[in-house]
Amino acid sequence: MMKPELKGKKKPNEPVGLRGLLSWFTSEGFLNDVLKKRLGISDNLINKFKNNLQPKKKIHLGAYISWILTFLFIIECLTGMFLMMYYHPTIAEAFEDVRYITNIVPYGWLIRGIHFWGSHLMILFVFFHLLQTYLKGAYKPPREITWISGMVLLLLSLGFGLTGYLLPWNQISFWASTVVTEVPMAFPYIGHYLKLIARGGENVSQVTLTRFFSMHVMALPALTTFFIVLHLIPIRKYLIPRDLITHFIAILLCFALLISLATLSPAPIHEKADPYHTPNKVKAEWYFLAAQEVLELAQHLDFLGGWAPKLMGVLIQIFVILILFLIPFLDKNPARNIKKRPFAVTFISIGYCAFIILTLVAKFK
Ligand code: HEM
Repeated sequence: MMKPELKGKKKPNEPVGLRGLLSWFTSEGFLNDVLKKRLGISDNLINKFKNNLQPKKKIHLGAYISWILTFLFIIECLTGMFLMMYYHPTIAEAFEDVRYITNIVPYGWLIRGIHFWGSHLMILFVFFHLLQTYLKGAYKPPREITWISGMVLLLLSLGFGLTGYLLPWNQISFWASTVVTEVPMAFPYIGHYLKLIARGGENVSQVTLTRFFSMHVMALPALTTFFIVLHLIPIRKYLIPRDLITHFIAILLCFALLISLATLSPAPIHEKADPYHTPNKVKAEWYFLAAQEVLELAQHLDFLGGWAPKLMGVLIQIFVILILFLIPFLDKNPARNIKKRPFAVTFISIGYCAFIILTLVAKFK
């Protein structure tokens, strides 16, 4: 008669003690002993993982962009964690801390450079990803939740850029944040209260820095993680990419690009913020230039009188964002092929061209 197998106990021929530990480093031991027995991961998930290791014949550039985006978010969290070890969010220390990280802390310049360039690449890739999924018609049913959570992720990514910009407490970051937190003033009656909420007072000050810092390191990472999971649940049962090896290579290439950028074009330090000295021209980061230009163009509507021009400048932008949020419900054409969606393709082409032209106009004027 066969002896019943004792749960949790090793079979007589299985290695025990240190030999048991060493067996975890063999593929068989890792699979059966670590993954299945100890971590309780199902055969189904393990098979899925194994299948995903096989390179697929067709390469979808779009899928690479989306997983690189996820990787960039993880890199931003990790490098941000290291930066926080030396950074204090006070107006007396912030600027000096950034200088210390860049010039004194071993490899501090590299970590800061990767964080700096990672944020730019993340926003650039979000724009690519939005365009690619839009052109693919991937927002159509049943992908509405993925699209809407994607739009939230776009705003959260911009939020990272906005709040992170102030943290080095330099002249450019201080005055750009002053201009941005002035934008809510476009709203009649409530504008002043919105500005007070954003700044924590009449002016950009220590309170603003504390607010932006806590948003940047607590609220935004938590919300982004939540929305990435929500984004992927409808499309990925196991939250891992198909074709792991080629994705791993793509991610390594992206990492190499980040290191090259951080080395060849280090993150700038600028001068310490001086609230009493306004620079001649205050320009936002490239991803906010189009928005800044729309606000400036709206000033030409002064014939409308009063607060109308400023309000129009803000409302136009809110309207565009709202349309993008509602695209899955507004576009009732069931076709996904771009040749059969001339209106949708024209709409996004005009949108992206306008964004690029406005950005260039704001950059070079
Ligand atoms: C931090 C920002 C974002 C991250 C990390 C992210 C990540 C991802 C990932 C990993 C996928 C799965 C790709 C695959 O395996 O096929 C995906 C798909 C998708 N994403 Fe995003 N995404 C972000 C922002 C956005 C934005 C801004 C939009 C558009 C508004 C968007 C819309 C979509 C859509 C519609 C799909 C489904 C694609 C398909 O079914 O082929 N995402 N995203």
